[in-house]
Amino acid sequence: MNENEVKAVLSGVKYPGFDKDIVSFGFVRSVQIKGDQIAIDLEITASALEVANKLRSDIAAAFAAVGHKNVALKIVQPAAPKQSSSRGKNLAPNIKNFVMVSSGKGGVGKSTTTVNLAIATAMQGKKVGILDADIYGPNVPRMMGLENEKLKANAEKVLPPERYGVKVMSMGMILEPAQALIWRGPMIIKTIEQFFSDISWGDLDVLFLDMPPGTGDAQLSLAQSVPVSAGIVVSTPQTVALDDARRGLDMFVKMHIPIAGIIENMSGFICPCCDKEYDIFGKGGCATIASEFNASILAEIPIEPAIREGGDVGAPIVIKEPSKETAKRYLQAADRLWNFLQNGNADNSAIQPVIS
Ligand SMILES: Nc1ncnc2c1ncn2[C@@H]1O[C@H](COP(=O)(O)OP(=O)(O)O)[C@@H](O)[C@H]1O
Ligand SMILES: [Mg+2]
Repeated sequence: MNENEVKAVLSGVKYPGFDKDIVSFGFVRSVQIKGDQIAIDLEITASALEVANKLRSDIAAAFAAVGHKNVALKIVQPAAPKQSSSRGKNLAPNIKNFVMVSSGKGGVGKSTTTVNLAIATAMQGKKVGILDADIYGPNVPRMMGLENEKLKANAEKVLPPERYGVKVMSMGMILEPAQALIWRGPMIIKTIEQFFSDISWGDLDVLFLDMPPGTGDAQLSLAQSVPVSAGIVVSTPQTVALDDARRGLDMFVKMHIPIAGIIENMSGFICPCCDKEYDIFGKGGCATIASEFNASILAEIPIEPAIREGGDVGAPIVIKEPSKETAKRYLQAADRLWNFLQNGNADNSAIQPVIS
């Protein structure tokens, strides 16, 4: 067999529990062939032994079916997830839920979504924090009106400033902006770990993680430092944006992060003069990928000047203009998210996404 033939056989092996095969998932690290000996290296994202065992037997069966028995298989797995109860293992044991907010690319409204969802969750009486892990564009402090805040610390830890009932910590509060740009993967990982060990978050019901765009080191490192309970993807509805959103959802699947849902941002336009909603840039595009991943649409948030203004002046729309339709949608999305964290479903029966 040559390498292509080996890969073709591997393409027929589904990742346990998924419809997708291990080659498409990118789990095959290397294939080496010497004579009739085949050595395959896999690196998977699940720590469960059952997953590796199932793969071993499925791969052996697939090669046996084409008359090959000499397959040496090596499977690299991450360490078992750290238990919240284990002493000193979880880097932030007082935080009950971690919600990772991701997007395939920048500028789609990830931070806007994070701050509004976080405040909306706090308004429902929950203890909430935001960790702004977007080192390339840490703009949560400005959106929360905390950009001039001086950090305080006690003997051991840094105290995150609080606004609108939400504790906020940002790379931007600690790093010089220019310094952040030259960072490499391992440094990002180290710093993210410190954000948990050196910051006094106290008891929290939910910590929102505003991630850098894309699917990189920061996401992986966070998922390995703390048990992430839910992932949210923010996307705009245009077809061209959906491929990026799909990558974001795919990343959650690979990292075994439960998908709470998608926020379709810039979905339609609400005219500031007459409050009427116009369908300018399209709407409902995310419904297609939502059904692909069996995920919910948590909210469709239109383009609304008040949203940007709220972010610019440090008073997000759920605080500044809570009676606006858009603010209500954020509140509803926060409700659905909480439902998901409690019961594992977002209860989005009220939302009927339109496929356009
Ligand atoms: N629904 C919306 N309506 C109007 N402006 C928005 C909306 N969502 C985001 N914006 C604006 O778009 C810009 C980019 O949003 P931001 O949340 O910073 O994106 P990201 O964090 O994904 O880079 C900001 O100026 C923000 O105020
Ligand atoms: Mg941002």
